[in-house]
Amino acid sequence: MGSQWGRDRTYLRAVREGYRSRAAYKLREIQERFHIIRDDDNVLDLGAAPGSWLQVVRSLTAGNVVGVDLSPIAPLDGVTTLIADLTDSAVWQEVSALMGTVNVVISDAAPKLSGHRSYDQARAIGLGENVLAFACHVLKPGGNLVMKSFQGEDFGQLFGEVRQFFLSVKTYRSHASRKGSSEVYIIAKNFVRCTDEA
Ligand SMILES: C[S@@+](CC[C@H](N)C(=O)[O-])C[C@H]1O[C@@H](n2cnc3c(N)ncnc32)[C@H](O)[C@@H]1O
Repeated sequence: MGSQWGRDRTYLRAVREGYRSRAAYKLREIQERFHIIRDDDNVLDLGAAPGSWLQVVRSLTAGNVVGVDLSPIAPLDGVTTLIADLTDSAVWQEVSALMGTVNVVISDAAPKLSGHRSYDQARAIGLGENVLAFACHVLKPGGNLVMKSFQGEDFGQLFGEVRQFFLSVKTYRSHASRKGSSEVYIIAKNFVRCTDEA
């Protein structure tokens, strides 16, 4: 009952403040705590639909903002959107050509859940590895990455992979995540380089 009320409050707050989803508050929290986006950064948002993270990012930087999703994203002033699969390496090249320098990659991407816990967990970790490969190919040295993931089998392996490429890597569980969810964000700062070509 209490958590249901909490969900409703966050949802109503998002509606009142004009956000497309309650997910906006997760990125706002992360930004307040980790300062991942500076005011002239070019930012790439992976798994960006319906676009509440894009709304937050647009208010934080004067740089280029690009969102990628399998689903269409309703137009947002000053934001470029692509309907594309982030796991397709042709999209990595398209984004590089479009943005030039990419200072920050953020990803809230998550696969559709089947209800089979270990299968869903494996797909989520696999998607996270694709996000990491994408970031490795487009991020400028010194850049930052925020990636949604899920605690469970193979999370430690993904976390270890991210640590190979960034000087500082932490996990963060958002207060805006649903109670009981295994959702966790990997906050990686100061990209060095890819050690393996994916
Ligand atoms: C939780 S939603 C993102 C919410 C978004 N951050 C916001 O604030 O509005 C997760 C998104 O990941 C997208 N997604 C999942 N797999 C993807 C893929 N392979 N390529 C692109 N987008 C993907 C889904 O289509 C979905 O829109």
